[in-house]
Amino acid sequence: MLRLRINGEDRELPEADPQTPLLWILRDHLAMTGTRYGCGKGLCGACTIHLDGNPIRACLTPAAAAEGKELTTIEGLGGAVASALRQAWTEQRVPQCGFCQGGQLMSAEHHLRTNPQATEQAQHGAMSGNLCRCGTYTRIDAAMKQAQTALNQEENS
Ligand code: FES
Ligand code: FES
Repeated sequence: MLRLRINGEDRELPEADPQTPLLWILRDHLAMTGTRYGCGKGLCGACTIHLDGNPIRACLTPAAAAEGKELTTIEGLGGAVASALRQAWTEQRVPQCGFCQGGQLMSAEHHLRTNPQATEQAQHGAMSGNLCRCGTYTRIDAAMKQAQTALNQEENS
């Protein structure tokens, strides 16, 4: 039986094939539709989630690989970095259609949490695997910069 820990909750999935990619476990078995299907080939980043705090492509990762580990999806993403990003995302009016934005936030949160002083160039590198067909890249840049500044100010106050 497949057992997963998702957003701090233990979930049992007796019907699921452990080789099913996590994307379909989340969307079809658990109705957690914040994780999006873009390409299904690891190319667009729409399906980005965290496995033990690190970003993975849910479309390529079999569910069995997450057993005994901690999964986080956009629905459960919390903490200081996530809340600074959400505020900046809102203030910079980042989303257009919104389709890619969950994956963008999952990647941005990991990047700022693990590289609080990252340069703009490093930021671009970290976000380069997340595509946005609406072209919101300049607003994503601005929001990440805003969140980074807010987090660093908080740290120094
Ligand atoms: S749907 Fe997973 S990377 Fe595109
Ligand atoms: S906001 Fe539409 S795809 Fe990114």
